[in-house]
Order: sequence, then C-alpha cells, then structure tokens
Amino acid sequence: MTVEEKLGQLEQFDARASMNDASEPKIYDEKLRLGRVGSFLGLSGASLTRRAQRIAVEQSRLGIPVLFADDVVHGFRTLFPVPLGEAASFDVDAVERAARIAAVEATAYGLHWTYAPMVDIARDPRWGRIVEGSGEDVYLGSAMAAARVRGLQGKDLAANDTMMATAKHFVAYGAAEGGRDYNTVDISQRTLYETYLPPFRAAVEAGVQSVMAAFNEIGGVPMHANHELLTTVLRGQMGFDGVVVSDFHAVHELIDHGVAAGPQEAGLLALRAGVDVEMTSETYLRQLPAAVRDGRLATEVLDQAVRRVLRAKHRLGLFDDPYRYCSESRERVRTLTPLHRQAAREVARKSFVLLKNEGGVLPLSRRLATLAVVGPFADERRNMMGSWAAIGRVEDVVTPLDAIRSAVGAGTRVLHAKGASLKAADPVALAEAERVTREADAVLVFVGEDYDMSGEARSRSSLDLPEAQQALVRALQAIGKPLAVVLFTGRPLTIGWLAQHVSSILLAWYPGTEAGHAIADVIFGDHSPAGRLPVTFPRAVGQVPIYYNHKRTGRPPDAAVEHTSKYLDVSWTPLYPFGHGLSYTSFEYLDLNVSAQKIHPADTVEVRVTLVNTGTRAGDEVVQLYVRDDVASITRPVRQLRGFQRVHLDPDERRTLVFKLGPADLSFYGSDLQPVVEPGTFTVFAGGSSVAPLSVQFEVVGS
Ligand code: GLC
Repeated sequence: MTVEEKLGQLEQFDARASMNDASEPKIYDEKLRLGRVGSFLGLSGASLTRRAQRIAVEQSRLGIPVLFADDVVHGFRTLFPVPLGEAASFDVDAVERAARIAAVEATAYGLHWTYAPMVDIARDPRWGRIVEGSGEDVYLGSAMAAARVRGLQGKDLAANDTMMATAKHFVAYGAAEGGRDYNTVDISQRTLYETYLPPFRAAVEAGVQSVMAAFNEIGGVPMHANHELLTTVLRGQMGFDGVVVSDFHAVHELIDHGVAAGPQEAGLLALRAGVDVEMTSETYLRQLPAAVRDGRLATEVLDQAVRRVLRAKHRLGLFDDPYRYCSESRERVRTLTPLHRQAAREVARKSFVLLKNEGGVLPLSRRLATLAVVGPFADERRNMMGSWAAIGRVEDVVTPLDAIRSAVGAGTRVLHAKGASLKAADPVALAEAERVTREADAVLVFVGEDYDMSGEARSRSSLDLPEAQQALVRALQAIGKPLAVVLFTGRPLTIGWLAQHVSSILLAWYPGTEAGHAIADVIFGDHSPAGRLPVTFPRAVGQVPIYYNHKRTGRPPDAAVEHTSKYLDVSWTPLYPFGHGLSYTSFEYLDLNVSAQKIHPADTVEVRVTLVNTGTRAGDEVVQLYVRDDVASITRPVRQLRGFQRVHLDPDERRTLVFKLGPADLSFYGSDLQPVVEPGTFTVFAGGSSVAPLSVQFEVVGS
C-alpha cells in the first residue's frame, strides 16, 4: 500500500449531503477509485451502497471494501424509545432485543457500523445529550452498554444482520462544566475511574469493535490528543483491540482547543494518540503524507491504525463478500415488520415511569362517556421519535390521540384540543381545551419538551416546561375533573407545580414509532407501568448536579440542623429520586437476608428478598439492590446500585429473588487507584427505588 492508500483507509467522508441521494452528484467516486476512502458516514440503502462498493472493489488498485456507518441509536426504521427511556425499563433483555432489531434493519440497508451505544454517564440534565445515554448510574449504564453491544454485534460479526457497535464518547463527555455541550471537563482520576470509565469497560468486555473519542478535553488534554486515555488506558488497561474513530470534524478541532497550530499538527497529535479513523476533517489524507516522508510520522504508527481498520473489515466478512450487506430484498422484508412494531410497543410500555398517581386516576376506564385528550403532544408524530431518528418516518408513528380513539369503547366520546403550541400560548386553543375539559368525565394532558430541546448541542440553563404548557395544565387542573398528565422529555425537568397539584403523571420520554399504542396500553390498564427513573429529577436547576449515589460529607444534610449541607431556599432532596416509579398494583418486600454474616474479601455473598404483589392487579416490579460500604479508607457513596431484576407477579403471588455480591460489587478504587475490597461492614438495601429503607448488614473480614 502507498502512504496515500494507507491514509485513505483512515479517512471517513460525510456522504449525507451527496452520495445518499440517487439524484445528487457523486463527488467521492474519484476518491473511491484512488483508494482514498476507508468509510462513509451516512450512506445507506442497498443500491447506493452497492454502487459505491463496486467502485471501491472493482475500480481501485487494491480493491479494499469500504465501510458504511451511521448513527443507529434507538432503532433504524422502527424506532424504539430514546435510550434514556429504554434505560428506564430496567430490562436488559428488552434493550438487547431493541438493539438486535435496529441492527437487522440497518444492515438490511447496507450499513456495517453504527455509532452506538452512547455510554456517557450523565449527572447534569442541563446537558442535552443526557437523552442519548442510560442516565446517572454506573451499574445500570454498564449493563445497558453491554446489552446494546450484544444486540448490535450479535454472535457473528460477519453475519449479514450484525454490525460493528461503537461505545461513545470516550470519555467523561457528560461531565461538561455547566452542562454546556462540548465544554471543559475537569474531574479527578478517581471520578474518572469510578464513574466515567466503567461503562466503556463493560462495552469492551462485551466485545465492542469501535470506540469514538469525545469532543471534550479532560484536565487540559483534549480527548483526540489523549494518548494516555486512548491508548494506555483503553487499549493497555482495558484490552480494547478495535477501531478508535474521531467524532465529527474533531481532529481538526484540536486547533480550536489551542493544542495544534494547524491541521498537520492536529492530524499528527490525533493519530499518535490513537485515533485510527478521522471523521470528515481530512487532516490525515491531506497533511500526513508529507509527515511520513520527512519522518515526523513513524510508519509503524500509521500501519497499526491501518491494520485495525483492515481487521474490522475482515471481521465483518467484507473481504469474503463485499456485497454481503447490499440486498434490496432484505431492505423490503426486514424493516418495519409487525414483529418489530410489536417489540417497539413492548419496550415503549416498559419505559414509561408512573411518577405519581394519587387517587388512582390511572388507569382510565374504557367505558367513560366522554374523555378529553388535550395538549400539543396528543396528536403529534415527529416528537414521538426523539432525536437521532435514523430513517424513521413520521407517517409510521401512531399518535396518542389515534391510539386512544381506537382503544376506547364504542360508547366513549373522545374530544381533542391542542390547548397550546409547544412553545407559545394560544388563547383560542386554550379556551377550546377548557371547553372540552368541562364536557369530559376525565382529561389526559399531553405536554413536554420539544424533542429538539435535547440531544446534541441542546443544553439548557432551565429545566422548566415551556410556560405556555404550564399555563395549559394549570387552567385545566382548575376545572377540577380527574386529570392525568403524560409527559414527554429527553431529560429530567423541574415539574414541581405538576408534582404538587396534578394527581397523575406518566413519564413517556419519546416512545418511538409505537408511541400511541404503548401509551393507550398503559393508560387503560392493559399493562401496569413499572419503569424506573435512570436519572434524578431535581426540584430546582440550582441543585444540579444532583444524583443518588452522592457522598455523605462531614455534615450530611439535616433540615433540623443549621450547619449541615443543604439550601436555604429549597429542600436538598430530589423531587423524584433515581429508581423511582409507581405501579397500578402494590408490592411488599419481606425477609431481606444474607447467606453469611461474615465473608472474606474474595468471597461472594448471596442476598435474598421476598416480593409480594399485595394489590389487585398483575404487574411488573423492578427490584433494586443497593450497597453501602459503611467505613472505608476512601469516602464512599451513601449507596450504589449493585443489582436489579424486573419481575412480573400476579395478585397475591410472592417470589424470593436472589442476588450475588462479589468482589466486583464490593470493591472500590483505593488510594493507588487499584480495586480493593476492604474489611468492615456493608449495608445492603432492597426495594423499589434508591431510597428503599429495608436493609441488612454483613461484614468482610480479613485482608
Ligand atoms: C456527532 C456526534 C456523534 C455522532 C457523530 C456522527 O457530532 O457527537 O455522537 O455519532 O457526530 O453523526
């Protein structure tokens, strides 16, 4: 391979503006013939990808196949709930199934590689990309990361319905100061090792074949120039042997970071740090041939990056059959199938979190005489899809209004009024909404944050619902009919007024293609909600960052004691804690016990708890297990999630659940940043949220 052919393998071009439309000029054809394209971002479709692949394979000197990549984040044509919503299901198998279906559909369109799962831990809801991940907790985030990697990559990466996954964005992107996207990250090594690296480790252990570097710097070193983290830690310590891809134009942005004087230095810094594939900024191809020739870029550094890219293509089976993923027939028969829709409906149902249900307004009867369906999200399609909607189409989406109309009994009159637009008041619409509410026996109000207020470059300084929608809820609540709010959002919101005055609040996130049916299934009680919060809901944005696994401090907050860690103007506690979620039935936790009172550091202890459905309806419950290391050489969180099981019980049914706690669950990073299990007592909590009181202790003895 010539230097230019090698560097060509490392270049990724954005095809979204050109190659992805049959009518657009094919501006990369010549580069393909010269072997200057390693991969494309955003080129999909069996015929378009085959066309590009034929040029690369049959018209270039070496005939190396091209990789086709895109953002398949929560579905491809059939859209599942946004990742934060999927995480709220606390159902690892359901999330893996969703990823599997996404891969089946994306590969049917010729894609080999997706930039998912996003595994960034996020403790700051001002950061819009919180919607793309699995929330604030390392244990949940790691479980979801591994599940999505398994679903996307399957058991055979060379199969025509599996694709290369990407753990992104490496690393600590969610710790941006001020919750402002792309902003500076400055955290301790301990926080990095305890909070932000573990989900990447879980993805690597699940076999992820690609990692994307993050836009941010950490402690003064931009990630795209961070050899210590990209090579020593990711490859050396974690054993990652796949491809590191840059983020969009991020190699060139080393100039904006102020660590590169120009594009050649930027390219040299990134390639040496361990960024194998450059997404769209072309510094490698344009600037590095000269650096190789004058010896500033060691051939071995270049060759190892090229080897990784070629190995990925080999693992995908592209050298055996470059056209393996290009099949118009699979495009037609493998996307938006009834089974895929059914799966999307099930995951959406599981993602919903019943935040409040005073007086049991929900579930509604199907035999109401008149039901009012109000709010800007009631008859809304695009918002149901959330951000990163791949090739999802609005016409595929089932709206809440349509689903409710088809779900109610023949005798029920459904009245609809928008009441307000997403961001602006509308007095006429408000009056109409009040009118239909007065006529109704119950009212459902569909409100939320526009899908485009979360996601990339969508940070907010406020977490409030748009005022027009708050006014709508206040006006309808004043009428005094049974009222439930269905809330759409990609982040925690400060909904204190709703929490205080509205009887029932169902959090729906952005539920995807089957939004309407899933909502109707829960609203009318065919399925009891059981989703749990993967992120803490604050009372006020001023509390942020706020998360459940916080430290105790030397003056733990105590409302009754003046000089303790709290606020003058708002309770220090969250509005709704991590792990919170209600059900239409009720559960009781009994007989929490451990298999041994004392264990050695290398031992495993079994924890048992009995769950009883004490209500009148069948339902799921997410049983959560938390652990606190009561005294240690390094301060420890008040509790940490170390197990969860989503189980279904019929009324009066009881089940004893077993959890295992071993060194990986009990250890922390000691003063030398090495994992250690220290002797002393541990307290185990079990229950339906992170504030579960039921506890039991055991002791680790010996060193
Ligand atoms: C974006 C995002 C990244 C995405 C990439 C390609 O800037 O940061 O998550 O995969 O560009 O679209």
